[in-house]
Amino acid sequence: MRLPDPALVVLVGASGSGKSTWAGARFRAPEIVSSDALRGIAGSGPHDLDASEDAFGLLETIVAARLGRGLTTVVDTLGTDTVRRRGWLAAARSAGLPAVVVVMETPDAECRRRNATRDRPVPAPVLASQLATVRTLRPDLEGEGWDVVVAVTDAAAALPDPVAEPVTRSGRRPAPDRVGSHGVRVVLQVSRFPWGEDPLAWLGEVTRAADGAGFAGVALMDHLIQIPTVGRAWEPIPEPWVTLGALAALDTELELGTLCTPVTFRPAGITAKAAATLSALTGGRCFVGIGAGWWEREHAAFGLPFPPDRDRLDELERAILTLRALWAAGTKAYDDGEVVLPETTCYPRPAASIPVIVGGSGERRTLRIAARLGDACNLRTTDTEQLRHKVAVLRDHCAAVGRDPADVAVTVLDLPVVGRDRDDVWARVERHRGRTPAAAYAARTRAGTLADHRARYAELAELGVSTVFMATPDLDGPDAVADLAGLTA
Ligand code: UTP
Ligand code: MG
Repeated sequence: MRLPDPALVVLVGASGSGKSTWAGARFRAPEIVSSDALRGIAGSGPHDLDASEDAFGLLETIVAARLGRGLTTVVDTLGTDTVRRRGWLAAARSAGLPAVVVVMETPDAECRRRNATRDRPVPAPVLASQLATVRTLRPDLEGEGWDVVVAVTDAAAALPDPVAEPVTRSGRRPAPDRVGSHGVRVVLQVSRFPWGEDPLAWLGEVTRAADGAGFAGVALMDHLIQIPTVGRAWEPIPEPWVTLGALAALDTELELGTLCTPVTFRPAGITAKAAATLSALTGGRCFVGIGAGWWEREHAAFGLPFPPDRDRLDELERAILTLRALWAAGTKAYDDGEVVLPETTCYPRPAASIPVIVGGSGERRTLRIAARLGDACNLRTTDTEQLRHKVAVLRDHCAAVGRDPADVAVTVLDLPVVGRDRDDVWARVERHRGRTPAAAYAARTRAGTLADHRARYAELAELGVSTVFMATPDLDGPDAVADLAGLTA
């Protein structure tokens, strides 16, 4: 079972029922606020009952501070004090965090057995009264207003799965279509290029690592200046078609293309030529992500016009028609009323049909263009509700223009923070968050382990997504790519 995260998690259970063990297996140490541990800080040790009042004072302060920042907080106390428990629930509510209560239902005899083997057992009558209290409390919890009530009946069985599945890094020959067992293809979007002294070597190593890690392809952004959400303006961002030509020379099975190329940068005919060439060079492993462009600054800096939205969307439509006309068999004249070409002589011919992925989420026009002319529509959200809505709008447009929705694939851009385990995830969040509060950054980047992201990809597959274009802020070289192999299998 996946618990909400971030969340308030309140443990309830008698001594020796396994609360601290359960929490320690699932959460980072700083996320767990334990009355025993705070007795050891405010007092002489975890069993210093004289320090209880101070320990609980500290506990309340820490819980309030963490919840106020939207950070996951696990409250490790007996959990039987109803006033305190309801107070934490109210604090989570006002912080807008989901609230989870976890009741340990370890058999009484097992608690007694564990208690007896501890250095400082709880006196038998005290344990008996704790066990009785937890038993009577159990039905009340259902009505207390928790978002999730978890009963841990067998603590050992409830320990989490190993975080990352074993990673195969070499000799791996995936199915040609490279659909993972979660149901989606994962394409690596390379958006940062910390390539040091030897750009070509770095590109080659990263691309081979992506092939070895089972990615279905490599996508490059098409920007003239590095965009602020990815890096600094003086960091390198290479021209994608030139760069894809270099990647084509490597012996991989990857599909190669742009995500997305703006129609404002090159006349559509030139993009058609570049993509047809890449298709010929790669034996048909080319795709074209294409969009209306959005960043005025890079246009101005490079002397390119940046017309109003409406005109750029008109151009997007004409561009896709032009690509398809020039890639089609033969050299005959083309005239669809929007695009008129006296001939369509474009050699080399693409080695296979080139998928056109329309980037953007604008509901009125972009999704309509995707429905009418795209092989796929790339949405920039992985949020379940937003995605469900956008897919419904796309399907409506398909119906309106008489297109079979099965012919328009749904792809998404995913920008996750991926870590080996919870500690690694949060170290990465802390490293990348800049001035954004940690909880907000973690939520936006869906910060999690490989297992978390695999579960998320399975959910995306259920929503109709066929391909995830993923880019992480940690992609600094081939090792970082190899570490992502667990995402693609
Ligand atoms: P915990 O220390 O996790 O229990 O386990 P607790 O509920 O937090 O107890 P208090 O309230 O702080 O006193 C108690 C003992 O049981 C073992 C642990 O290793 C520890 O020695 N244990 C726990 C198991 O053997 N198996 C389990 O699944 C959980
Ligand atoms: Mg404990």
